[in-house]
Amino acid sequence: MNILILNGSPKGGNSITLHTCLYLEKKYPEHTFRYLNVGPKIKQLEKNFSPALEALREAELIVFCYPVYTFLVPSQLHRFIELMKASGLDFSGKAATQVSTSKHFYDITAHRFIEDNCADLALPYLDGLSADMDDILSEKGRRQATDWLDFTLWKLSRREFRRPLVQTPDQVGGDARVIPGSSTPVIPGSSTPVIPGPDDHVIPGPDRESQSAASKKDGKRAVIVTDLVPEDVTLKAMIDRFVAVFPYACDVINIQDFPFMGGCLSCFSCAATGKCVYKDGFDEFLRGTIHKHDAILYAFRIKDHSMGSRFKMYDDRQFCNGHRTVTMGTPFGYLVEGHYSKEENLRLLLEARAQVGGNFLAGVATDEFDVNKDIDTLAATVAYAMEKQYTPPQNFLGVGGMKIFRDLIYMMRGLMRADHKFFKAHGQYDFPQKKWKTSLMMYLVGWMMNNPSIKRKAGAKMSEGMIGPYKKILE
Ligand SMILES: Cc1cc2nc3c(=O)[nH]c(=O)nc-3n(C[C@H](O)[C@H](O)[C@H](O)COP(=O)(O)O)c2cc1C
Repeated sequence: MNILILNGSPKGGNSITLHTCLYLEKKYPEHTFRYLNVGPKIKQLEKNFSPALEALREAELIVFCYPVYTFLVPSQLHRFIELMKASGLDFSGKAATQVSTSKHFYDITAHRFIEDNCADLALPYLDGLSADMDDILSEKGRRQATDWLDFTLWKLSRREFRRPLVQTPDQVGGDARVIPGSSTPVIPGSSTPVIPGPDDHVIPGPDRESQSAASKKDGKRAVIVTDLVPEDVTLKAMIDRFVAVFPYACDVINIQDFPFMGGCLSCFSCAATGKCVYKDGFDEFLRGTIHKHDAILYAFRIKDHSMGSRFKMYDDRQFCNGHRTVTMGTPFGYLVEGHYSKEENLRLLLEARAQVGGNFLAGVATDEFDVNKDIDTLAATVAYAMEKQYTPPQNFLGVGGMKIFRDLIYMMRGLMRADHKFFKAHGQYDFPQKKWKTSLMMYLVGWMMNNPSIKRKAGAKMSEGMIGPYKKILE
């Protein structure tokens, strides 16, 4: 079988993930493995996609091989998927799967992203391998890798693929974006009232007076980060309405205008100092401009089940802040054009990002149902959260994610010095072994509960004892 490995790591030949595939190649000499260095070569591939086309045409099994980057795939691989789609190549007769390495921090959203995009490409999909970055170093990890390929090839021989979990662009009625020159941005299947285009894009809000810059409240300022292109008539109108109805001043930053030199290279130059190797000034721009605001909103149109590869580059480049939750306490919000309610993975991702970062997700306004009401509600909620500094407790998505970070940073504290300092300063090393008083108490209770006569006498006193400190609070 011709197996094509799409190496999405920007580290190219030094990729850990690639080494899992190289290991599999050695174990399966009966199959032909071919490699395409998508990560390091993305700029060349953008100019000339023909080497990729040729490799894709010959492949029987396509393997997306990548490190998980900020909940998804690296921006370079994301861009490659856009190019695959734009190529119009017919993938019938082929199949796809994936191999990732990571610390399992949101590997699920990355895998689902690949799966959903395979559905768009009409590429039959088989479950991938999500390995820890060190798995290949252990006997167990190597066995899991070969077991996975055995299973995958068995499934493939039976042509038993995963049923697509998303509606493809065809099924939802195509791209919801408005083409310039066309009259109205009608979104199929949605009852959305049409948002006027650029000529008349400020829709009167509930309080017309509050829309003028002079009458904005002082003291706080929000920012909307967007990747607007001229075709984004609807999204532009959504941003304009938000700015108009929001009671505070709101800056709009278009990352299409930012001169990114490229996606994160995973060089770890930033690990100790926080300084990125690229000289495009993104780290200062992020810290000195975007993060200076009291609320951060993102405005995008759904593309390829995500925010698009430009936003992915923006996200990956935030690695200059390592794993530090530097915007903790700042409310987040989103303005989304497209069928958000149908994008299960994207919804999980936006919530998880806010959860892990310690940001209150004030809301997601979409153009699916009642766009004007959605935007007004979001504006009011962001303003409330800014004023009251509303920060609800983290749920499983945030607590679980932070546990992975905690363990990782502690282990890598010699290298990730800026992260280590931050985690110490913010009490984020919440290891259970530090709670020695609780541990001792549990030994005592355990010993008591093991003694039948004490246990009998204690009876309901156990829960009475446990509720004691809580009762004290009420007193
Ligand atoms: C920019 C960046 C973002 C990352 N994001 C994640 C993540 O979201 N989840 C995770 O578990 N690991 C994350 N990692 C760790 C990598 O996935 C991990 O180190 C991987 O094994 C590297 O593989 P490679 O050598 O093939 O590039 C990230 C690393 C970098 C550099």
